[in-house]
Amino acid sequence: MNVIEAAGLSKIYGKGSTRVEALRDVSFGVAQGEFVAIVGASGSGKSTLLHLLGGLDRPTSGEVYIDGENLYALKEKERAVFRRRKIGFIFQSFNLIPVLNVEENIQLPLLLDHRQPDKGYIRDLIATLGLDNRRKHLPSELSGGQQQRVAIGRALAYKPAIVLADEPTGNLDSANGREVLELLKLAVRQYHQTVIVISHDMNVAAEADRVLRLQDGRLVSDTRGVSRV
Ligand SMILES: Nc1ncnc2c1ncn2[C@@H]1O[C@H](COP(=O)(O)OP(=O)(O)OP(=O)(O)O)[C@@H](O)[C@H]1O
Ligand SMILES: [Mg+2]
Repeated sequence: MNVIEAAGLSKIYGKGSTRVEALRDVSFGVAQGEFVAIVGASGSGKSTLLHLLGGLDRPTSGEVYIDGENLYALKEKERAVFRRRKIGFIFQSFNLIPVLNVEENIQLPLLLDHRQPDKGYIRDLIATLGLDNRRKHLPSELSGGQQQRVAIGRALAYKPAIVLADEPTGNLDSANGREVLELLKLAVRQYHQTVIVISHDMNVAAEADRVLRLQDGRLVSDTRGVSRV
């Protein structure tokens, strides 16, 4: 069974002269452990698609299934809880909580759920992210690359069904961008994490198992990368 399934997704914004068909009848499925890149020109519908996959917006038509659950059949509150448990988001702008330290930011989804974090796993995660000596630092005391690593930690903390990342390397220099990419790949390898990432960065597309290309809101190609070790 696919971890995530998009079925006939369409999204229309606005009405009359401001009407935009941002997404047109997009369907695909992603299996566990796949590392998928979404590419396409600016305005082609990439962020719209990612928001719909993550339950952050509502499609005009079509469905999204995550772990077999029909996302938009859930009530608003149920969807918010489902999102917290099953979906890890990473954005270009990090979106950390300024008053929480590194460790707290990473554990936030669990703390919001009144769940006891798996201490061993969180420790392992923080070490993997190279944040061992920054556990008690606030986001404002970190570099951009470190902040994005915290965001990756937060996205992975719940061992979600899927990680969705929108231009995660967009605000970083090339060295930090490459490091973020390596960490996402590591999550796929080490935790068999399913990852979907939007990127203009050709390195990301080159490293992905599969590349989905959007053009004017349509899915125009779905290519599997060459096999790699
Ligand atoms: N909230 C909104 N209201 C109206 N139109 C929108 C809204 N969000 C996006 N759009 C339009 O939908 C289309 C797709 O936007 P989207 O943000 O998905 O593109 P994108 O592929 O992520 O582009 P970029 O690479 O620049 O981030 C664009 O034409 C955009 O203007
Ligand atoms: Mg976008």
